[in-house]
Amino acid sequence: MTHRQHSIADFRETARRRLPRFVFDFIDGGSGTENTLAENRSALDRIRLVGSAPTDISTCSQTVSLFGQHYDMPVLIGPTGLAGAAWPRGDVDLARAASTHNIPFVMSTAATATMEDVAGAGSGAKWFQLYIFKDRAVSKRLVSKAQSLGFGALEITVDNAIPGRRLRDARNGFSLPFRWTPAKLASLAAHPGWSLRTARAGAPKLEVMAAELGLEKADTIAELMQSQLDPSVDWEDIKWVREAWDGPLIVKGMLDPGQVSKALDIGVDGLVISNHGGRQLDGAIATIDILPEFRAEAGSKLTLLVDSGFRTGSDIARALALGADAVQVGRATLYALACGGEASVDQALSILKSELNVAQMLMGAREIQDFGASMVRCHPAPGKSEPMTAAVAASQRSGPLSLVTENRQGKLP
Ligand SMILES: Cc1cc2nc3c(=O)[nH]c(=O)nc-3n(C[C@H](O)[C@H](O)[C@H](O)COP(=O)(O)O)c2cc1C
Repeated sequence: MTHRQHSIADFRETARRRLPRFVFDFIDGGSGTENTLAENRSALDRIRLVGSAPTDISTCSQTVSLFGQHYDMPVLIGPTGLAGAAWPRGDVDLARAASTHNIPFVMSTAATATMEDVAGAGSGAKWFQLYIFKDRAVSKRLVSKAQSLGFGALEITVDNAIPGRRLRDARNGFSLPFRWTPAKLASLAAHPGWSLRTARAGAPKLEVMAAELGLEKADTIAELMQSQLDPSVDWEDIKWVREAWDGPLIVKGMLDPGQVSKALDIGVDGLVISNHGGRQLDGAIATIDILPEFRAEAGSKLTLLVDSGFRTGSDIARALALGADAVQVGRATLYALACGGEASVDQALSILKSELNVAQMLMGAREIQDFGASMVRCHPAPGKSEPMTAAVAASQRSGPLSLVTENRQGKLP
């Protein structure tokens, strides 16, 4: 079979053509000026990779161990709500493709499938992303349900108690359930494939939240989230989840390395360094720029995952070099999902795998643990003439230089 998509950028372009605009913009857009959305990309592009030839790269492996489980590549499919808007039963398709590649799938609380459906989709690892609701009893029920259905880890998302201002959604009148304005009806006619699939499957519904909360009062997604999520959530709340959840506990949405000690104090196992893909705090720092400081603070005591803006295997290599244990993708697999369901997500993951393979071989990292900060340099920021090493750049961002410059085997460049 020949494929028309050879990169995540190809999938994005196909998704842009195939989805009605209000759906594509919901997936693709960021908050406010979309400054962070753009910065996520430019920060990654500023980091240049150092090729290592000649090095014996005849055998390379992408195997990675997270919380004692082995996976086939250092990539996870992260939680994305309303995936069913891209493709019917989208959450199940994402989970099945992740399973094929032996990587974890993180199911969103805002999923458009039930927890039972996702738990039964393929034999691979499923993790659950939890929101802490105003009504704590709802979150407690979700924690015990995730435990009893065999979800292997819990990610608590902490960065959207107040929703970001998503202007594309506001301009498009994106609402839940979908409200059929004349503009939306016109875009249905222009996207017959999506319209037919959605008509057959029925409009996507936030199954988990609908079962627990009811959605009658919902208008926009932002209003729905604002009405249910609790802006008072702090480390005390994470503490009770720690007590309730028997398994790896991960906090998602962190950008402040100064909070690492609090996570360690209450027995958190991992963090997802994330700016929610530029959908929340407009102007937030790119995650790749703050990652070395997290590694410096956490040492080897926490598993560090990172997301926001990752689209290629070379991007993943950058994160591994700067201290991440693995990368979560959001839009990369959603664009693919919109193009052809499970088969396209499977293909997108194969693309990321082979891109990472090329990068790791040319960088001389036979194992994922071989990646280190000596393998990257920070391209000069605008106005600077001399390239900075990533380590110097990291030290300028205040992280201790020694930890940042060491690779995982403790070798200094
Ligand atoms: C359409 C969409 C829906 C999302 N829904 C959720 C969600 O329900 N829970 C969550 O923790 N993060 C959610 N996120 C954020 C992602 O988990 C992730 O942080 C972000 O997509 C990473 O950036 P990337 O899309 O550039 O890879 C969502 C992101 C997108 C694009």
